Amino acid sequence: MMDASETPTAATDIVDLRSDTVTLPTEAMYEAMRSAPLGDDSRDSDPTVRALEARAASLTGKTAALFVPSGTMGNLVAMLAHGERGGEVFADGGAHLFNSEIGSMVTVAGLVPRSVPSRRGAMDEEMLAQAIRAASSAGRPRPALIWMETTHNGAGGTVLPLPHMARIHALGRESAIAVHVDGARLFNAAVALGVSAHQIAAHADSLMFCVSKGLSAPVGSLLVGDDALIARARAFRRIVGGNMRQAGVIAAAGLVALDTMIERLREDHEAAARLAQGLAWLDPALAQPDHVQTNILRIDVTNSAHDAAGWASALRASGILVQASGATQLRLVTHRHIDRAAVDRTLAAFSAVAPQA
Ligand SMILES: Cc1ncc(COP(=O)(O)O)c(C=O)c1O
Repeated sequence: MMDASETPTAATDIVDLRSDTVTLPTEAMYEAMRSAPLGDDSRDSDPTVRALEARAASLTGKTAALFVPSGTMGNLVAMLAHGERGGEVFADGGAHLFNSEIGSMVTVAGLVPRSVPSRRGAMDEEMLAQAIRAASSAGRPRPALIWMETTHNGAGGTVLPLPHMARIHALGRESAIAVHVDGARLFNAAVALGVSAHQIAAHADSLMFCVSKGLSAPVGSLLVGDDALIARARAFRRIVGGNMRQAGVIAAAGLVALDTMIERLREDHEAAARLAQGLAWLDPALAQPDHVQTNILRIDVTNSAHDAAGWASALRASGILVQASGATQLRLVTHRHIDRAAVDRTLAAFSAVAPQA
């Protein structure tokens, strides 16, 4: 059993590449959690939560921010705060919103998905304009939102180019439709582009980012926007049961994440690049290194003898955990617990499974 003074660490015999959400808090986060000033956030507000919200707003150049327990709740309260029930949300078909959050979008926010053809996570701008024109005809509910995701999980951690985001935002303004950015991995995008989070958020009316993914905080996401939008989102957070009490305990870890973990994400991108290069050397059909921009690799196993579940279970036997996405795709995500030795072990395990595949 663990001594109270010990900090739990990731199991060393397992290389867990399923997600960057498996990251554990750093020692500095535990320290901050122990000493954070606390209050009943739902009643009188919690000073550490306020500090995290202020920091999130200033990092993204917005006037206000709201701390929520999850990215899904951040996206949901954004939809509730922006949307008129029955309105359409324009996003690319591979968006996390349409694949994993469709239940809350349709049943709670009462919005309708409208998928726009896209390339590597970026919507086709002309097709988006056409879809908005078609949806704006009389007798239909007003279009509710334009939705972008960066980095793009389903497309393999791809980063939306800033000029593309700027044009989409301009289209939103011309059509009087708000633009929301799902920036669950906002800081991976910022580090990959070599820009500040502020420069990405400039192309969004609201943006959600998570501190619980590669930044390694245990819990939490932030929704940022203007004062009026965040006030509405705060009221909806209460309605969906997201009000918290001494939430400063987790917000304290979020502050440490923002203070100390952003630049470190570069190491995760380097690890993903090394993985992709090693896999492509093993079999060029497995990975395209020039497609890997951040910490997510999507591997197509269509032309191998195993399906995705077969690969996942064969790799698990060597202590390597990957996520099977559908029948033909594996997802590998690098993070703080994936060092050089973990990358080498992963490549060795792939090379042992590959001949049988
Ligand atoms: C792009 C994207 N958006 C939103 C979410 C939802 O975040 P959470 O798991 O904190 O609800 C995720 C989770 O992986 C994600 O990858």
